[in-house]
Formats: sequence, structure tokens, C-alpha cells
Amino acid sequence: MAEELLRVERLCKSFPVKGVRGPGVQAVRDVSFTVCRGETLGLVGESGCGKTTLGRTILRLHEPTSGRIVYGGTTLFAREVGEEGRPKGKAQAVDMLPYRRRMQIIFQDPSASLDPRMTVGEIIGEAIDIHHLASGRESRAARIRELLELVGLRKEDAERYPHAFSGGQQQRVGIARALAVEPEFLVCDEPISALDVSIQAQVVNLLEDMQRELGLTYLFIAHDLSVVRHISRRIGVMYLGSLVELAGSGELIQKPLHPYTQVLLSAVPAPDPRASRSRRRIVLQGEIPSPLRPPSGCPFHPRCPRAVPACERTVPPLREVEPGHFAACLQAGSAP
Ligand SMILES: Nc1ncnc2c1ncn2[C@@H]1O[C@H](COP(=O)(O)OP(=O)(O)O)[C@@H](O)[C@H]1O
Ligand SMILES: [Mg+2]
Repeated sequence: MAEELLRVERLCKSFPVKGVRGPGVQAVRDVSFTVCRGETLGLVGESGCGKTTLGRTILRLHEPTSGRIVYGGTTLFAREVGEEGRPKGKAQAVDMLPYRRRMQIIFQDPSASLDPRMTVGEIIGEAIDIHHLASGRESRAARIRELLELVGLRKEDAERYPHAFSGGQQQRVGIARALAVEPEFLVCDEPISALDVSIQAQVVNLLEDMQRELGLTYLFIAHDLSVVRHISRRIGVMYLGSLVELAGSGELIQKPLHPYTQVLLSAVPAPDPRASRSRRRIVLQGEIPSPLRPPSGCPFHPRCPRAVPACERTVPPLREVEPGHFAACLQAGSAP
């Protein structure tokens, strides 16, 4: 049994909105899952469903509203929920500084996440300095060179500014910066979405190589399944702030249990043409509801082709429908 590195329990993150009563934008709602050391957990869902907020909340770049985050056996944050879903009592929260080193993030848009006034050497050096990871100027410079070469850049690139690089090279800089502090766990937040299609595979390969060489653990966020299916051991699917399904990658793709996952999959071209013939494209009715006023019961019920009256009243828990295969649907497991 693999060692658990991260556990998230009933995590919620809301953003208060001025002049609006209630919790505000409920970006992450009651999300629970674990990540084992060395694995890649893929996380997919449409734009706005809360993937980035979940990733940032786990790292406490956003302070959680409620729930629990346990990392390497230590509770990083815990706050209970009382009546009517409001957070109750005081939050228990550790000082994140030592964990900032162990947990890092790679951003979606490399050009926006690199300071244009700093050279690449300064950007990577800053990460080294914050955590006092080099003793003296020469070892610091040597570490910067080593990191640049690790991610496939040249040591002379340390003197250049971000604008002198292509998008793919900028993302390599972002990866080098994240690796500078020798992390264990990386949130990869759509690391290739902003890149040219022709270089996306190179960056994915680099991340896979780094994982093998350095024993890294990834939460790999993407807005569709085509990328994560190949690199993830398990995949979670989010809809309107909730985790609606979680299973091994092959299992999720061959036997999706949640109607929303079935819709997502119907939009992905199948590598096997025989499979695509039997899998008809499902077109969803209606718009995604606002996370400011999510529907009662199952968040997907207003658009769900299989909804029954109970779906409007009951919030379906994420339950283990088959061994290792979880779905938050009252109907999952019953015949279609
Ligand atoms: N800092 C913030 N303040 C207010 N609302 C936010 C903030 N960040 C994200 N949101 C809202 O939370 C929801 C989820 O956003 P996000 O996590 O960025 O989704 P995704 O990464 O899946 O596209 C969206 O409705 C978004 O508008
Ligand atoms: Mg995002």
C-alpha cells in the first residue's frame, strides 16, 4: 500500500462578495480525497469549476473556509462546519513556511508568473534565498546552472529576461523555480494550456522525467481529459466546486459512473475509432449555474439527463460505488 502524502477532508473555500448575504462565491465545496507519495492525481473540469482555487487552497495560498488538510501526517489546517454549513469555532492552522518548501505550484500562464524585471537567474535565485538553500555565491550560482540544465535550458540563460524566451521555455523557467526548493509535492495548474500545441508534449515529458528522477508527487490540473488520462494514476472530476467522481484513470475513462463525467468523455475524441462510434456525443442542456447560487441537492441536477426528483433535495455524497471508484450520484451503480 502506497504511503499517503496528502489528505483533504471536506474542504470548502468561499469568496465573500460585497453586498451579497451568505457565503459568497462557493468555489470549492466539501471536497475530500487523498494523494499517495509519487503518484499523479489528475483533476479535470470545465473552466470556473474551482480547480485553481482547490489547488491554491491546499497550499494555503488561499485560506480555507472550512475542512481539513493533512500533509505528511501534519494537519496544516482544520476548521469544523456547524449548522447551516457555516464554519464553526477557531481554525487550527500551522505556520506554512517549512511547508512552502515542500509544496510548490506551477502556474498556467508562465509569462504572467515570471517577473519581467528580473533575470531568470534572479528568479530562480530568489527561491533559493527564501529558504537559505545555498551557502555562498558560488554554490548559489552552481545550483542555478544545475536547475537550468535539469529543465533543458542553457546555463547562459540565467542572464536573460523572461521576454527573451518562448512560452515553452518560460514554463521551463517556472518549473526550475518550483524545483529550486527541492519540493516533494507540486500542484501543476494547467501547465501546458497556455502553450503552443506543438510544444505541449515536451513540457509534459519534462514533468514526467522530473517526477521519475526526483520522486515527485503531482496534483495535475487540466480542463479536459486528453492530457491527464495519460499521465495520471487516478483522475478526479470537478463540477461547480464539487468533486463528483474519482477513480483510476483507465476505469474512469472506460466506465464513467457520473453523468457529468460521461458528458466530458463524450467530448474527447477516442483513440480507438470503434469506441468513438459506440460513444455518442452528449450535448448538455442549459448553462453552468453560478457558484454564487449553486443549485440545491446535486449541483449537476438541473442539467443532468438522469436526474430524478430526489436529486433536487439530496446532496449526493462521494461514495465508493465500486472498489476504488467513487461517484457523487444517487443513481450511480443502478442500471441506466
Ligand atoms: N480571488 C477570487 N475572488 C472571488 N472569486 C474567485 C476568486 N478566485 C476564483 N473565484 C471564483 O471561483 C470560481 C472558481 O474559479 P477557479 O478556481 O479559477 O476555477 P478553474 O480553475 O476551474 O477555472 C469561479 O467562479 C471564479 O470566478
Ligand atoms: Mg484555473
